[in-house]
Amino acid sequence: MYAKINNIKIIFLVGCSIGVFIGLWKTLLALLTIYIVSGGWTFLRIIVRTASRDLKSLYRLVKTKVSLYLMKKRNATIPQLFLQTVKKHPNRAAILFEDQVWTFKDLDDYSNKVANAFLGLGYQPGQEVALFMDSRPEFIALWLGLSKAGIITALINANLRLATLVHSITVVKCRAVIFSSELSKAIEEIAPTLDKKQEGMQYLCLGKCDSNIISAKPLHNLIDESSSSLPSTVWKGNVNDRLFYIYTSGTTGLPKAAIIKHNRYYWMGAALRNLIGFRPNEVIYNCLPLYHLAGGSLGTCQCLIFGDTIALRAKFSASKFWTDCIKYNCTAAQYIGEICRYLLAQNPKPTDTQHKVTLMFGNGLRPKIWSQFANRFNITRIGEFYGSTEGNANVINVDNQEGSCGFISRILPSVYPVALIKIDENTNEPVRDANGMCVLCQGGECGEFVGKIIESDPSRAFDGYVDSEASKKKIVRDVFRKGDSAFLSGDLLYMDTYGYLYFKDRTGDTFRWKGENVSTSEVEAVISNILELVDCVVFGVDIPGCEGKAGMVAILETEKGLDLDNFLHKMHKVLPSFSIPVIVRIVSQMETTGTFKLTKTKFCSEGYNPQVVKDPLYVLDFSKDKYIRIDENVYNDILTSKLRI
Ligand SMILES: *[C@@H]1O[C@H](CO)[C@@H](O)[C@H](O)[C@H]1NC(C)=O
Ligand SMILES: *[C@@H]1O[C@H](CO)[C@@H](O)[C@H](O)[C@H]1NC(C)=O
Ligand SMILES: *[C@@H]1O[C@H](CO)[C@@H](O)[C@H](O)[C@H]1NC(C)=O
Ligand SMILES: *[C@@H]1O[C@H](CO)[C@@H](O)[C@H](O)[C@H]1NC(C)=O
Repeated sequence: MYAKINNIKIIFLVGCSIGVFIGLWKTLLALLTIYIVSGGWTFLRIIVRTASRDLKSLYRLVKTKVSLYLMKKRNATIPQLFLQTVKKHPNRAAILFEDQVWTFKDLDDYSNKVANAFLGLGYQPGQEVALFMDSRPEFIALWLGLSKAGIITALINANLRLATLVHSITVVKCRAVIFSSELSKAIEEIAPTLDKKQEGMQYLCLGKCDSNIISAKPLHNLIDESSSSLPSTVWKGNVNDRLFYIYTSGTTGLPKAAIIKHNRYYWMGAALRNLIGFRPNEVIYNCLPLYHLAGGSLGTCQCLIFGDTIALRAKFSASKFWTDCIKYNCTAAQYIGEICRYLLAQNPKPTDTQHKVTLMFGNGLRPKIWSQFANRFNITRIGEFYGSTEGNANVINVDNQEGSCGFISRILPSVYPVALIKIDENTNEPVRDANGMCVLCQGGECGEFVGKIIESDPSRAFDGYVDSEASKKKIVRDVFRKGDSAFLSGDLLYMDTYGYLYFKDRTGDTFRWKGENVSTSEVEAVISNILELVDCVVFGVDIPGCEGKAGMVAILETEKGLDLDNFLHKMHKVLPSFSIPVIVRIVSQMETTGTFKLTKTKFCSEGYNPQVVKDPLYVLDFSKDKYIRIDENVYNDILTSKLRI
C-alpha cells in the first residue's frame, strides 16, 4: 500500500515536471507575445486573475492523467474496475429508478447473468450487439454485462425509426438487437430489411413481446436462467478495446457510430469528476438519455467506477424534476441546456429549493439564463462543460465562471493543447497564414474549437467513427505546428481576455434542436425524397426563447402545389420529431447552379418575418400537429412564445 502511494507521488511529480517543462519554452514565447501585444498592465492582470485557476486545474488534470496511466499500466477494463467498486461497497445503492433500488451487488449479478446468457448463445468477444431501449437500470446492466463477455454494444437512439434505425444497427454489423417491449413496433417495421442486410439477425426482447412478425427470444427468461457467476471472459479485455458505440449526427448525413474505448470511458468520467470537484458518494439525478455521451457515459461512469449513486428517469419531465431529486435525496444533477430552460418555464414552487442538489453539471446552459437558474434553484456550483462524443476537444468550467464552458490558459496554453482557430465565414474553412498554418485566436476573438490529436494518449486521441471516410472530414492539419493534426469540433466559441470560453454557434451543416444535432443534408435528402426530388434547402433559424436553432426548410414551388398535411404525415414516418422542420417557406426560385451555400445563407438571413419575406411561410403548430400560415399575428405569437414550438 505504502509503495503504491509512493509510486503515485513519484509519477505525479514526474508528470508535473514534464508538463511544465514541455510548456515552458512555448510559454515564455506566449507570455512575451501577450506582454508586447497587450502592454504590461493587461498582462499582469491576466496573471493575477488566472494563475490560481490554472494551477488548480493543472493539478487536477495531472492527477487524472496519473490515474489513467495506472489504469493503462494495469491493463484494467471497465468491468474489472467495476468489480473493485462492487467489492468496496456491495450493498450501497447503485441505481435508483421508480421504486426500485439496485445495489452494486444486484448490478454485478445481473450483468454476470447477461454475460453468461450471451456466451451461452454462442456470442464471442469482439462481436457487436445493438441495444434499443428507453432509460432504465437494465440498460446499464445490459451493456455492462455484454462488456463482461467482451461484446461491444451499440447504444441506439430510442427515437430513431425506419431507415435511420436500420442504418444505425447495420453500420456496425450487429448480429442481434436487444429491445424493450415498448419499442417492438419500431423493430417490427424494420425487421424484414434487417434480415436482408444481416443474415441470421437475432431479436431479443425484454418484457412481453407478442409480435407475430418477428420471432424474438424472451431475454428476461434467458437472463433469469443464466448463472450469476463471474464469466472468465472478464479477465481477457484490454484497455484499448472498444466498450460501446454512441451515435452522433455529427456534421453530415446519417448517424455515425463513435467508438468509445474502455480507457476513453474512464478518462472522460474521471476528468469530469476531478476537474469539477465531486464530493465522494454523490447521488446524481440523471434524466438524460442513456444512449448519449452525457447521460450514458459521463453519468454512468460516476456510478460504476467511482461508486456514486445515480437516479434514473425513463423520460425527462420538467414538473417531476425537483420532486424526483427530493425523493432520491440527490446531491447533484445532470442537465442539458433545454432542461434548464424547461425548468425555468415552470411556475415557481416550494420544491424549487427544497431539494439538496448543490452541484449541476452538463452542457448547454446559456449565459443569458445562467444566474437566473442558479439563483432560483439555489445551485451553488455549475459544472458546464464543452465536449464532443467522438472528439478530444473538451473543456470544463472549473471555477463557476458565469456563462463559460471552460477556459484555455493564457499563461500555459500548451499544457492542454486545445485552441480556437479562425474560420472564413463564407466557406467555413480554416483561415491559413502565408505558411499554410492555421491562425490561432487571441483573447477577445471568436473561432472554431479544435483539439490536438496525439494517437498514443487516450486523452488526446481521436478514435474516430466506425466509418473512416467520415473521420477524415473531422481532422484539420498544420494547426499548432507543421504536420500535426487536430480534431474539428464544428462549434464556434468566443474567448475573453482571461481565456474563458463561451459557446457561440455551430458551424457548417448541422444545428442543435431539442438537445439533438440535426444534419441539414440528411433532412434535405429525406424531404426531397418525399416530394419526389423537388429542390429544397434546410437550415436553422433563431426563435426567441428557444435553445438552439429551429429547422426551417425552403422548398421550390411546383405546379402540383404542396399538400402540407400529407407532407407532415410522411415526414413523421421517416424523421425523428426533432428533425422535422418547424418553419416552411415555399419559394418561387432557387439558385441551383453554383454554390448551394449562397442560397442557404440568403434564406437563412431573411428568416421567417412575413413583412420581409413575401413568399408563403408556415409554422408547425405542435398542439394541432399542423402547419399554419404565418401572418402578422402568428409571427407575433412566435416572437412572444405564445405559440408553443
Ligand atoms: C492487456 O491484456 C491483453 C489480454 O490479456 C493483452 O493481449 C494485451 O497485450 C495487454 N496490453 C498491455 C498494454 O499490457
Ligand atoms: C432519503 O433520506 C431520508 C432521510 O435521511 C431517508 O429516510 C430516505 O430513505 C432516503 N431516500 C433514499 C431513496 O435514499
Ligand atoms: C441554499 O443552499 C444552501 C446550501 O448549499 C442552504 O444552506 C440554504 O439554506 C439554501 N437556501 C434556500 C433558500 O433553501
Ligand atoms: C452533436 O455533434 C457533436 C459534434 O460532432 C457530437 O460530439 C455530439 O455528441 C452530437 N450530439 C448528439 C446528441 O448527437
